[in-house]
Amino acid sequence: MRIDILTLFPEAVQPMMDASILGRAAKKGLIEINCVQIRDFTDNKQQQVDDYPYGGGWGCVMMAQPLKSCLDWVTAQAGPRKRRVIYMSPQGARFDQGHARRLVSEYDHLVLVCGHYEGVDERFIEACCDEELSLGDFVLTGGEIPAMAIADSVCRMVPGVLSDPACYMGESHWDGLLEYPQYTRPDVWEGLAVPEVLREGKHREIEAWRREQQLIRTQERRPDMFAAYVPQTAEEQRIVDRLTGREKLTYDCRPAAESDVEALLAIAAEASEYLRQCGVDQWQGGFPDRETLLGDAAAGGCWLFTHDGAPAGMICLYTAPEPDYDAIDGAWRTGGAPYATIHRAAVKAAYRGRGLADEMFQLCEDLALGRGYGSVRVDTHPDNQVMRRLLERRGYVLCGQIVLSRSTEPDPRRLGYEKVF
Ligand SMILES: C[S@@+](CC[C@H](N)C(=O)[O-])C[C@H]1O[C@@H](n2cnc3c(N)ncnc32)[C@H](O)[C@@H]1O
Repeated sequence: MRIDILTLFPEAVQPMMDASILGRAAKKGLIEINCVQIRDFTDNKQQQVDDYPYGGGWGCVMMAQPLKSCLDWVTAQAGPRKRRVIYMSPQGARFDQGHARRLVSEYDHLVLVCGHYEGVDERFIEACCDEELSLGDFVLTGGEIPAMAIADSVCRMVPGVLSDPACYMGESHWDGLLEYPQYTRPDVWEGLAVPEVLREGKHREIEAWRREQQLIRTQERRPDMFAAYVPQTAEEQRIVDRLTGREKLTYDCRPAAESDVEALLAIAAEASEYLRQCGVDQWQGGFPDRETLLGDAAAGGCWLFTHDGAPAGMICLYTAPEPDYDAIDGAWRTGGAPYATIHRAAVKAAYRGRGLADEMFQLCEDLALGRGYGSVRVDTHPDNQVMRRLLERRGYVLCGQIVLSRSTEPDPRRLGYEKVF
């Protein structure tokens, strides 16, 4: 993995990148992190990199020319690679472990562009950057700290940088949970003892204790993550049921009729509110609307799930080719072969984390297989981590990015997934 950080302050960034674990990895040739001075690429005598904003206002804006010349030099140096140019921006998608995993698995050259002052001429971002990432919902004076954070979290997943993939796979945010509490010597410190189970050396019991602690911690500290977590084993399900005081529910399902449209709209409204709360720009423009859901019901493609007669979730399965899937930045696993498509999977708040989404997907996969299709395709927003985790756990593979033609979605970018039977 090669990372070039384009910055006005390389002297502040490079030492951090050369220290500790990343520094050792660079010495071993596993990674290469270069900080490049944007100012060296100005075409004016004063080496000026910024200028006043058109239309007036505070501060200065970084000019496109030095940034573009700097980027051109870096790309020429690095040569042809799987490259991603990313602008550090408080207006970008909020960076998380999912982004880090995608960057390390799909690219071997990242160019991280650090803005400063009031930011960067928009034309440079439009013309030269593949995406914008934010470190969080706050504004920093420059993109250097976000760039260092992104470079660090990506590089520690490059094979060989840590001694074993288990080092990062057991950590917070890897599988939708926070990590368990950690202790080191001495056994007792200031009257506080290390939990007995960790000192007894019984590995199965330690594993069970740690998993339980992960679930307890996540419920206490990140109820949003806990609500979205789908238990992976019967034992985990038992712990979750105990923590939530809930027993397993059973659901009924039937093809939705046009007379079910109010129930479908209510499910969709709760799902879009949930996505809004999670900061996901999906279903935020009034979609799916009454007309769409009536069309789904009329086509016989929509399934309504109920619990004790109350609407709990919906999912649609279509077998006509999806026109928005024709162009993909990547490749579908089954190429041009016939496929079925899942749309509009949504669960009411009261039934989240209670096995319903799995039942809904299972139904669609069984239907598609029974009708002779070799695969199912589905798309979701890049920031929809809940859906992405569900899909990956169910064996769907990320195939690339598509763009929705629907005008009601403010952000039409979607990731296309496919599960081959
Ligand atoms: C003061 S900020 C500019 C903020 C910009 N005027 C705005 O309101 O969106 C200067 C630079 O810091 C970086 N930056 C600031 N906050 C950031 C964040 N939360 N995530 C990533 N980069 C950030 C960006 O590169 C930005 O160009």
